[in-house]
Amino acid sequence: MLTDTYKRPLRDLRISVTDRCNFRCTYCMPLDEYDWIDKREILSFEEIARVARIFVRAGVEKLRLTGGEPLVRTNVERLVAELAPIEGLKELCLTTNGSLLAEKAAALKAGGLKRINVSIDTLDAEKFRRMTKRGDLGKVLEGLFAAKNAGLDPIKINAVIERGVNDGDILDLVAFAREHGFTMRFIEYMDVGNANGWTSTKLVPKKEIVEIIHRRFPLKEVGRSQGSAPAVDYEFADGGGRVGVVASVTEPFCSTCNRARLTADGKLVTCLFSSAGHDLKTRIRSGASDDELFDFIAGIWRSRTDRYSAERLEAMRSSNYDPKTHKKIEMITLGG
Ligand code: GTP
Ligand code: 5AD
Ligand code: SF4
Ligand code: SF4
Repeated sequence: MLTDTYKRPLRDLRISVTDRCNFRCTYCMPLDEYDWIDKREILSFEEIARVARIFVRAGVEKLRLTGGEPLVRTNVERLVAELAPIEGLKELCLTTNGSLLAEKAAALKAGGLKRINVSIDTLDAEKFRRMTKRGDLGKVLEGLFAAKNAGLDPIKINAVIERGVNDGDILDLVAFAREHGFTMRFIEYMDVGNANGWTSTKLVPKKEIVEIIHRRFPLKEVGRSQGSAPAVDYEFADGGGRVGVVASVTEPFCSTCNRARLTADGKLVTCLFSSAGHDLKTRIRSGASDDELFDFIAGIWRSRTDRYSAERLEAMRSSNYDPKTHKKIEMITLGG
C-alpha cells in the first residue's frame, strides 16, 4: 500500500475543476480579482478523468469535485458521468455554494453523483448577501431542495462560523436542517489563503459550537466517519439525525489525513496549506504514460510530510502563531 512518511495512505482526492466562483465569501475569497488561471492551463475533462483513474489505481477511493465553484464549469455533469464508472471508486461527491444547483441537480444525479455538500452560513438573506458579497439565499435554497428532489442523499450543509458574524445563527441552521432532513456541519474558521485576514479572535472553537447545540438539542458523540473524516459527527439524542463539526484549528486531524488535491491547472497538492503544488499537467501534455504519471504521484505521496494544522496548534499554544509568515495557495485554487 502506498503511504506517506507518517504511514498515511492515499484514499481521497479533491479535484478543483475551476478557480472561478460567482460568490466572494469574506472568509475565502474576499477580493474581487485574483490572478486567475489562464483557460489554456485548465485540465480538460479527459485529462481530469485520466488522472483520476491513475489516482484510483494508487489507492484513492473517494473523489470530490470542488472549485472555486464547481458548477460554474460548463457541463460539469459530463465530467461526473466520466468519473462515476471508474472501477474501484467508492464515492463521488461534490461541494458547492448551491447557486446553480436548481438548474444542475437532476443532471448531476443522472450523471452518477450520489451526494452533495452545500455551503450555507446563515438563513438571514441580508446577512447571507453580506457574507458571500453577491449571493442570493433564495436561489441557494431553491437549489438545495432541487438536490433533495433529485434524490441526492445525504445532503450536508456546511457553515463556516465566524465570531460576531454568524455565531448567533447556529441553532437556526440546526433547526432548519433537522426539519428538512439535511445534515448540518459547522466549520471552524481557518486561515486559508492569504487574503481573508484570519485572526484567532474570529474563531469559534468546536467545543463552544457543540455546547451551544447540546443545550438546545442534546447530542451524543459518534466520532469521525472511517476514522479519517475532517468532521466529528454527533447524533441528536432524540433521533433527529446528525450534526458534524470540522475543527481543523482546535482539534487538527492531520495524523489521519489521507487527502490529496488536484488544482484546475493540474497541480498535485498534498496539503490545504501547502505553498506550492507538483506539476502533473506538463507531464500529461508532454506525453507521459500512465505508469510514469503513477510513479510521479507515488513518489510525491511517499515523501509527504504535511501536518500544517497540527503545527499551527502547537504554535498557537506557545502563542507565536502568525498566519502571514506562511504563504499559501489560495483556497479557490485548491477547493478547500
Ligand atoms: P464529507 O465527505 O461529506 O465528510 O465531506 P468533507 O468534510 O470531507 O468535505 P467538504 O468539502 O464539505 O469540506 C468541509 C470542510 O472541511 C471545508 O472547510 C474544508 O476546507 C475542510 N477540509 C476538508 N478536508 C480538509 C483537510 O484535509 N484539512 C483541513 N484542514 N480542512 C479540510
Ligand atoms: N475556513 C473554513 N472553511 C472554509 N471554506 C472556505 N473558506 C474557509 C475558511 N476560511 C469552506 C467553504 C466550503 C468548503 C469547501 O470550504 O465554506 O464549505
Ligand atoms: Fe466561492 Fe465557496 Fe469560496 Fe464562497 S467558500 S467564495 S462559494 S469557493
Ligand atoms: Fe491534511 Fe494539511 Fe489539512 Fe493537516 S492541514 S489535515 S495535513 S490537508
